[in-house]
Amino acid sequence: MHVVITGGNKGIGLSLIKKYLSTGANVTSLCRQSSADLDATQAKVITGIDVTNSESLENAVKDLDPIDLLISNAGLLIGDTFDHFDLENINQQFQVNTLGPLRLAKACAQKLKRGAKYGIITSRMGSIADNTSGGQYGYRLSKAAANAVGKSLSEDFRSQEITVLMLHPGYVKTDMTGGRGLIDTAESAEGLYKILEEKTLEKTGSFWHAFGDELPW
Ligand SMILES: NC(=O)c1ccc[n+]([C@@H]2O[C@H](COP(=O)([O-])OP(=O)(O)OC[C@H]3O[C@@H](n4cnc5c(N)ncnc54)[C@H](OP(=O)(O)O)[C@@H]3O)[C@@H](O)[C@H]2O)c1
Repeated sequence: MHVVITGGNKGIGLSLIKKYLSTGANVTSLCRQSSADLDATQAKVITGIDVTNSESLENAVKDLDPIDLLISNAGLLIGDTFDHFDLENINQQFQVNTLGPLRLAKACAQKLKRGAKYGIITSRMGSIADNTSGGQYGYRLSKAAANAVGKSLSEDFRSQEITVLMLHPGYVKTDMTGGRGLIDTAESAEGLYKILEEKTLEKTGSFWHAFGDELPW
């Protein structure tokens, strides 16, 4: 089993790497920079990979072994409100959160085994139905559009029997949330692992909470 994940030097990605290593999988992290915590694992680490740069992704992927599970984890949140938002920040989040998973899919398409899975960590904040508090334009827009990317990929990859799942990790204590959250990264990774194990091609193109509930768009 070969798992490839973006990010992984910290946060939810690092706990996902530890979880998959504990199951005996080979794991490759594609990240901008490593960390002492990531270096302490048995993962293969390829640094200098920015998901906003297609060329860096393609170069990193071309020598990889075939992939059973691809996870788009890298993400960016720059908080904003209606009174204070910055279009350049919104564009930056779109580059990372929306086009990142699309670039990753394109770079890895030839390496994905028939029957592989692609998990895209989007966010419940990208759910239009679930938005009752407004604001967070850059993050919400970019994650809603990431869900649309995943839905299209699920149709385009169907003939290869590749299952594409959009995943909300919960409200998790990481740098992204300033350490706030309801769960820690290990608990989130456990939930995400279960969803990625359980859901097969019949559920491709759907959106799941790490705790097991299907989420509305
Ligand atoms: N924490 C939550 O409550 C929560 C809720 C919903 C969804 N999520 C999503 O979960 C995922 C993981 O977030 P987290 O909470 O673990 O946050 P985090 O601790 O801030 O980690 C973010 C990861 O993304 C990487 N990254 C950011 N921009 C990148 C780029 N341009 N190219 C490559 N890597 C990049 C970071 O690498 P660097 O160290 O190089 O910056 C880091 O590894 C994200 O997609 C996030 O949107 C989180």
